[in-house]
Amino acid sequence: MRVLIAAVGAVAPFVSVLACSMATVTTPQSAPSAAPPLAAAEPAPVAPPTSVLDGIFTEAQAERGRAAYNEHCAECHGEELRGDEMAPGLTGVVFRFRWRGLNVGDIYASVQSTMPPEEPATLGDQNYIDLVAFMLRANGYPAGDRELATDPVLLQGVAVEGVPP
Ligand code: HEC
Repeated sequence: MRVLIAAVGAVAPFVSVLACSMATVTTPQSAPSAAPPLAAAEPAPVAPPTSVLDGIFTEAQAERGRAAYNEHCAECHGEELRGDEMAPGLTGVVFRFRWRGLNVGDIYASVQSTMPPEEPATLGDQNYIDLVAFMLRANGYPAGDRELATDPVLLQGVAVEGVPP
C-alpha cells in the first residue's frame, strides 16, 4: 500500500510537468501558423447587387421557381402569372406599381408571409427565394451567374427598378 502511494506521488508531479511543457510548447506554435493560411483562403469580396437589373438570380434558380410555382401558385395566379378573378396577376403593371420604390426583401417577405393563402410560410426559404427569382424573370429582369440567397440584409439592398425599354 505504501509503495503504491509512493509510486503515485512520484508520477503525479511528472505528469503535471509534462502537461505544462506541452501547453507552453504547442500554444505559441499553433497560433501564428493557423492565421496566414486562413487569411489567404478567403475569397476576394464580391460587391453585393443593388438593383434587380444586376442579374441577381440564375436561370436554374428561376426554373426551380417555376416548378414550385406550378405546384403551389398557378392554380390561382395562372400558368402565365396573369391572375384571374380570384387572384391578381404577378407581372407587368401590377408588379411595377406594387413594388415600385421597394426592394427584393419586401417581395420575399410578403410572398413568404402571405402565400399560399391557406398555408403561408410553409414552403421553406429556398422555395420562396426561388419563386422570387421566377417572378423577377417573368417580369423581364435579367438572370446572372449568382443565385439569389435568402439573406434578408442582402435582399433589402436590392432595389426594384423598372426594366429599361
Ligand atoms: C388560393 C389561391 C392562391 C394561391 C394558391 C396563391 N395565391 Fe398569391 N394571391 C392570392 C390572392 C387572392 C392575392 C391577393 C390578396 C392578397 O394580397 O392577399 C394574392 C396575392 C399575391 C401576391 C401579391 C402580394 C402583395 O403583397 O401584393 C403575390 C406576389 C403572390 N400572391 C404570389 C403567390 C405565390 C408565389 C404563390 C405560390 C407560393 C401564391 N401566390 C399562391 C391567391 C393565391
